[in-house]
Amino acid sequence: MNILVVGGGGREHAIIKKLKENSAIKTIYALPGNGGMAKDATCVDIAATDLDGIVNFAKENAIDYAVVAPDDPLVLGCVDRLNEVGIPCFGPKANAAIIEGSKAFSKDLMKKYNIPTASYEIFTELDKALEYLKTAPIPTVVKADGLALGKGVIIAQTREEAVEAVTDMMANAKFGKSGSTVVIEEFLTGPEVSVLAFTDGNVVKPMVSSMDHKRAGDNDTGLNTGGMGTIAPNPYYTEDIANECMETIFIPTINAMNAEGRTFKGCLYFGLMLTPNGPKVIEYNCRFGDPETQVVLPLLESDLLTVMQATTNGTLATTDVKFADRHACCVITASAGYPESYKKGFEITMSAEAEAHTYVAGAKLQDGQLLTSGGRVTGTTAVADSLEQAISDAYKLAKEVCFEGAYRRSDIGQRGLAAYK
Ligand code: AMP
Ligand code: GLY
Repeated sequence: MNILVVGGGGREHAIIKKLKENSAIKTIYALPGNGGMAKDATCVDIAATDLDGIVNFAKENAIDYAVVAPDDPLVLGCVDRLNEVGIPCFGPKANAAIIEGSKAFSKDLMKKYNIPTASYEIFTELDKALEYLKTAPIPTVVKADGLALGKGVIIAQTREEAVEAVTDMMANAKFGKSGSTVVIEEFLTGPEVSVLAFTDGNVVKPMVSSMDHKRAGDNDTGLNTGGMGTIAPNPYYTEDIANECMETIFIPTINAMNAEGRTFKGCLYFGLMLTPNGPKVIEYNCRFGDPETQVVLPLLESDLLTVMQATTNGTLATTDVKFADRHACCVITASAGYPESYKKGFEITMSAEAEAHTYVAGAKLQDGQLLTSGGRVTGTTAVADSLEQAISDAYKLAKEVCFEGAYRRSDIGQRGLAAYK
């Protein structure tokens, strides 16, 4: 079989490495992929948002199945376009990907179908938003409606900060069109849990839960990033909570999307907060999380391609989705300065053992040398019988990934360990 994976980060590398365990797969193409995954996939320099380029490539290369991993091609309709030329895909069509593409859509969906989430107001006019902020409870959360590279969420601790955030989005177009509509919502508290779930539009099979570490600095200080490390499972996500989420959130969401004529197939990501009033949805993503995927897929015991095809064919009910009863930890190694400005082009070296456990996100091959080309450069994952061991193994291996200015948080998993105690 020939498989095409759209995307080029650590998440895509983790998907590709897992897919490769299936011996029926002959070739995996990554569009665009990155230099660090060149040993695992044939990387082709076509951007993930170049839908014409992707469709032409797929037609010319006898692609049997495509996996569309990132949010932007999904929201742009990459799956629709590939389906039109007869190529089955993993991922939702554009009319379902809107669950991530528009926060106003997802908030209204949750309200209409009684799915627990923070209370909110939606604004398309600056003066109305500013008027509302005069009396809104503080802290408050300001969100750009559209995709904003994970940066469109501002937790405003003061009224002034909230006014600044709304003005930046609506009047100064800080996030372009994404911020012309804003959602202002209730500030929730509690542990956060990421649950990725396979769904074929009928049944939903959650994957092992995980915990992201979003801030750049130790002890959750510093700026928000795309994620500096993850652990799975998430110790806060007990069986009782999982059952409650299935009943009050997962199944109602799948049913709601069907009722709206927007059947969702693929991986639906539930960003949850376990509040004192029960689990609530912070956000939906229409895709695998990054770096959640780098701890979730290493624990998957079932064949990934079989499960993905079951979501496409509507046969998930009769397909096994099994996870190992073990622990995984992923430590991101980033460029010094990330998430603000950083230098690129430093040579990356890693031991053979580290390489076997490492997913490459921000790197390119140049004259046979692997060079840094992004903020988050690699994610190194270890799996073990205890969380403590997984953390210690992941750090040992991650330290064998070397480049000038390499930066890691030193406390990935510590909050999780404390929660077990
Ligand atoms: P997002 O970029 O949508 O993943 O949001 C970034 C982070 O903002 C989340 O991981 C939460 O920590 C935080 N967040 C989003 N919405 C809320 C909320 N209503 N209350 C408290 N924190 C929130
Ligand atoms: N790690 C959060 C996300 O993928 O959106």
